[in-house]
Amino acid sequence: MTGSQAKAAADLLEWYAAMGADEAILEAPVDRFAAPEPSAEPQAEYRAPRAPRIELRADAPAPRVKSRAAPVDSRPAPASLEAAKTLAELEALVGQFEGCALKRTAKNTCFARGSTSAKIMLSGEAPGRDEDLQGTPFVGRAGKLLDRMLAAIGLDETQVYITNTIYWRPPGNRTPTALEMQACAPFLSRQIELLSPEVLLVLGAPAAKAILGEPGIMRARGKWKIYRCGDRDIPTLATLHPAYLLRKPEEKRYAWRDLLMLKERLESLT
Ligand code: URA
Repeated sequence: MTGSQAKAAADLLEWYAAMGADEAILEAPVDRFAAPEPSAEPQAEYRAPRAPRIELRADAPAPRVKSRAAPVDSRPAPASLEAAKTLAELEALVGQFEGCALKRTAKNTCFARGSTSAKIMLSGEAPGRDEDLQGTPFVGRAGKLLDRMLAAIGLDETQVYITNTIYWRPPGNRTPTALEMQACAPFLSRQIELLSPEVLLVLGAPAAKAILGEPGIMRARGKWKIYRCGDRDIPTLATLHPAYLLRKPEEKRYAWRDLLMLKERLESLT
């Protein structure tokens, strides 16, 4: 291993540790009961199965880790992210980041769309197929529905800033894992800090978990919560994800109520 590879590996481990993913576990469970019963007869010494070697190369697949980390909150972003003073600089850092394995299977990084001076920030879950192809969040069917939902309360892309909790498409559109969320969390945290919106709208269960630490969207939706961002409290509302509404159109009524709450809040700001 060269000096620069060792440094890259050390930096990556430091990143995981800072995110709370600080314990390496094996790829496969070890059956401890498979050890031979103690017997009076002398027998060959039991050897536990050898742990698979975890690659420490910076470009190696992320080690499986058990995490005790809290969801995204107002934890200070790692120092390297504070160096990003604009959303464009942060986007460049996200583009260089190799600590989320999803990047290797994704076609593009999907950072954000909308206005960087918006007062309203939205965060969904993760890019889907269309987003991955275009490198832009919420441009597929769910995105079209989202645009119609926003239009219903008088908003368009020039008034909102739209991102996701994850910047790369999970294969097959599976739900992102806790580790993938944790790897992207500091970026999202800094993204919120840099945009500094008046209001945050969180779309769907994984985003509600990542941003508000809420375990369930049905309980969390339709209630104003606070996202603590540095010395600011950002009013945050969770609602149903448009992709879910495409599958369950009968639940649109809940999202509509939430949108009306958002509209009312926005009117109180002006
Ligand atoms: N679903 C999301 O959560 N985000 C997108 O960008 C697209 C679909």
